[in-house]
Amino acid sequence: MHAEIVVLPGDGIGPEVTAAAVEVLRAVAKGFGHCFGFHEHRIGGAAIDAIGSPLPEETLLACRTADAVLLGAVGGPRWSDPGASVRPEQGLLALRQALGLYANLRPVAPHPAALGAAPIKPHLLAGVDLLVVRELTGGIYFGDKQRTPNDASDLCRYSVGEVERIVRRACQLARVRRGKLTSVDKANVLETSRLWREVATRVARDEFPDVQIEHQLVDAMAMHLLARPREYDVIVTENMFGDILTDEASMLAGSLGLLPSASLGDGRRGLYEPIHGSAPDIAGRGIANPYASILSAALLLRHSLDLRDEAECVERAVAEALHAGALTADLATTTPPLSTRAATRAVLAQLCEERQPIVMRD
Ligand code: IPM
Ligand code: MN
Repeated sequence: MHAEIVVLPGDGIGPEVTAAAVEVLRAVAKGFGHCFGFHEHRIGGAAIDAIGSPLPEETLLACRTADAVLLGAVGGPRWSDPGASVRPEQGLLALRQALGLYANLRPVAPHPAALGAAPIKPHLLAGVDLLVVRELTGGIYFGDKQRTPNDASDLCRYSVGEVERIVRRACQLARVRRGKLTSVDKANVLETSRLWREVATRVARDEFPDVQIEHQLVDAMAMHLLARPREYDVIVTENMFGDILTDEASMLAGSLGLLPSASLGDGRRGLYEPIHGSAPDIAGRGIANPYASILSAALLLRHSLDLRDEAECVERAVAEALHAGALTADLATTTPPLSTRAATRAVLAQLCEERQPIVMRD
């Protein structure tokens, strides 16, 4: 198949980890006989420095016409002056909104080899396999913002339609997993959460009788996620709760450097990025964990290109690399850590092994 992929390296470790993912995608194209075109564009701080805008017109245009977008990370201390009127993060938020990517999928399935790095007792982690579905284009992230010298406000707003479509997406995903949906809100305090709970209950009851829905308050959820993570299948929640809970959930997997994400709308086009940030403290040193970006590329293959075998092949290659002890600094507790390059090579080596029969036939 032929596909055009826009690559937005962004800031900090973004360029290092997206380079690793592109290398893996090139190997997949070669091994399976596909033709992927890669087109690099600026976003975030790098775009502010170059042309003064965190989401240049030409970047947005390229994303709109691509089959999929692979993003690294945005942000860094250089652009985080509280008084600044233009910020790298605005580029990412505007892109998510412009492309209508309201559903952010964040799978969490710890690999045994990474459990040594997790700050949670190993017996709680065996068998954890959950998927957080975060609403991505509404809520407090996108409401009116006001600022006077004396006060500030951020409006949190959700419409019935916005809640319906994200809950539907979560139910569809739960249906092909273990059939269990946990909707997370703060309905004891927030009006938006009361609407969320009402709509979630109705959608699940009327349209997905095969999905079992339960509701959790977000504060309790933060606790349950660590105390009994195995019990969760699909978790659906609003934008900011999802942001916070997935950083927490990354500790179940051992490192923030392992979690990928897919941001989807109604069509096939999607944006794929690690859930981690730009990690300015380690940027440029060649030691960042490339696995979250590589696993995001696997989600791109699955969701935007419908290449399921290829996606599984990449996921298996990462699992095998982990299994073989290819651990970067965030994961290595007892062995010397691998560089970004070495970890990427470990994945490529596994990929080649898996694809050998077809590569040879080619
Ligand atoms: C994420 C990030 C972003 C968010 C930032 C960079 C705007 O934390 O993707 O989780 O808050 O959505
Ligand atoms: Mn986040």
